[in-house]
Amino acid sequence: MEKLLYTGKAKQMWQTTEPDVLRVVYLDQATALNGKKKERFAGKGKAANAISSLVFQYLIKNGIETHFIKKLSDNEDLVKKCEMFPLEFVTRNVVAGHFASRYGLTEGKKLPEPVEETFYKSDQLDDPFINESASIALGVASHDELDKMWSICRRVNGLLTPLFEKAGMQLVDFKLEFGRLSNGDIVLADEFSPDNCRLWDIKTEQHMDKDVYRRKLADLTQTYDQVLVRLQKVIMEDK
Ligand code: ADP
Ligand code: TMP
Repeated sequence: MEKLLYTGKAKQMWQTTEPDVLRVVYLDQATALNGKKKERFAGKGKAANAISSLVFQYLIKNGIETHFIKKLSDNEDLVKKCEMFPLEFVTRNVVAGHFASRYGLTEGKKLPEPVEETFYKSDQLDDPFINESASIALGVASHDELDKMWSICRRVNGLLTPLFEKAGMQLVDFKLEFGRLSNGDIVLADEFSPDNCRLWDIKTEQHMDKDVYRRKLADLTQTYDQVLVRLQKVIMEDK
């Protein structure tokens, strides 16, 4: 019997009959302000799942170890069950979002080198910023584990920045999550979609990510569908 383990802000996680395998269901909803703002968007789950599946397959093809097993249907994937690190790893290539508001900067300047920030995943605490020594103090990860996860983040940035560039989009920033498999291996988990990255059209500078919802700029599902079409094209060409 399948059992619903967790309903999050964008996905549900179901235990399958195999102990180490989960079924992920992408929901037709978007949230902002850590879930305080929530809305239904028909077709959003399908688009986010299609984009994330393509990105994970591309990363796997390029040597990144991930939780992804396969896409099951429009809204569903099978993934390897992980014990998740309660951390969000944010990499920023360009000034935007909270980096701009926190330091009083205007959005859009390319950063001299990627900025790396870690956040402690806690809805109750509003995902506070956390540094390496605090992560150790809280017992959420070791120095070696943090090094390993940041090294994967850098490889992902190195693979995805040129991929999105070919698709006419600037990868402004993104958030990754990691988990530990039952054999102890650390893998990239969760998702990679416009829900957890910023993508700007290179020509028009239009936002092509969840900021269209956060800032009421355009239709969310239509925007994600455009990202998908562009990504499909460059990934087909890459084959
Ligand atoms: P949130 O928890 O932030 O609301 P989601 O709605 O995306 O986010 O829920 C998916 C949840 O599943 C997240 O908490 C994420 O950390 C977790 N998760 C992602 N991949 C795996 C995995 N392979 N095994 C176990 N948990 C996972
Ligand atoms: P920020 O500028 O709001 O800190 O976001 C940086 C990047 O991290 C952006 O691509 C969106 C992503 N992100 C998430 O995926 N989840 C979150 O809870 C937050 C705050 C950001």
